[in-house]
Amino acid sequence: MEFHEISVTPVSPHIGAEIGNIDLTKPLSNRQVEELHAAFAKHLVIFFRDQRISFDDQIRLASHFGPLGRHVGGSTISKTTENPLVRKFHYDEKSMQISGENWHSDQSCAEKPPLGSMLYNHTLPPNGGGDTMFASMYAAYDALSPRMKTYLEGMTAIHDGTRVFGPETPIAVHPIIVRHPVTGKKLIYVNTDFTSQINDVPREEGERILQFLYDHCARAEWTCRFRWTPHSIAFWDNRCAHHKAIWDYWPNVRSGYRVQIEGTAAPIAG
Ligand code: SIN
Repeated sequence: MEFHEISVTPVSPHIGAEIGNIDLTKPLSNRQVEELHAAFAKHLVIFFRDQRISFDDQIRLASHFGPLGRHVGGSTISKTTENPLVRKFHYDEKSMQISGENWHSDQSCAEKPPLGSMLYNHTLPPNGGGDTMFASMYAAYDALSPRMKTYLEGMTAIHDGTRVFGPETPIAVHPIIVRHPVTGKKLIYVNTDFTSQINDVPREEGERILQFLYDHCARAEWTCRFRWTPHSIAFWDNRCAHHKAIWDYWPNVRSGYRVQIEGTAAPIAG
C-alpha cells in the first residue's frame, strides 16, 4: 500500500517503523486507520513520537485494531489503573524488577494470546536508557535451515504462565511454527519467558532445541532497538514479534501506560 496520509519510516530492514504526520489526540480518518493497519502488518512494530495522549486517546487508537483485553496473569510489577483496560508501567528507585526483561511475546501462555500491546511512555530517564528491543520472528524463521524447518513443522510446545506470573495463570499448548493470520507468513512461535517444554520429543532434546531457538530468535540481524523520548508510543504485534525491555536506568524514572488488544484466535500451525 502507498502511504498518503501518514509517513512511515522504517528503522531497520526487518522490523520497526516510525509513523509521522499524525495527531493521536484527534479521531483518525478511515484512510489513516487503513494505512496504520498496513504499516503494522509490514513492520511488526510501529512507533509514534511527541503524542501527549490521554487514556481515551490511547484506547481509541488501540481499538482500531480490535477489542481491548485484560492481562491474563497476576503481575505485581505493572499495576491496574482506575481504567481496567489500562495498566501502569512505572519504575523508579524503589523498583526491584521491571516487566519484560527477557525476550518474549506478551502472555503467550493464554489460549488466545493478545494480538498486540501498545505502550505509551510519558517520562524517560534524563540521560537515556530504558530502550525496548524488538525481533522479527518471520526473519528468524526464514533464516532456519530447510532441515530445521522440516523438523519443527507440526511440533508443539507448552507456554506456562506460572513461570512469570505465578499460580492461577494459564498454561497453553501452541504449535512451534505458526502462520500469521493476516500476512499468512510463517514464523517461530516460542519465547524465553513462557515456553517451558517441547512436546513429543525427549525432555533433554527439547531443552537443547529450545535453547537453540532462543539464541537464534535473539540474533541482532532481525532486531531493532527503540530509543524512547517523552510522550512516545510503541505498538507491537505479539503474533510475530518478540520484545525485551532494558533496565539500565535505575534509580531513574521511566513511566507510562499500556493497553493490549485481545487475540482473536489461537496461533495457527504453519
Ligand atoms: C513489556 O511489555 O514487556 C515491557 C516493555 C517495555 O517496558 O519496554
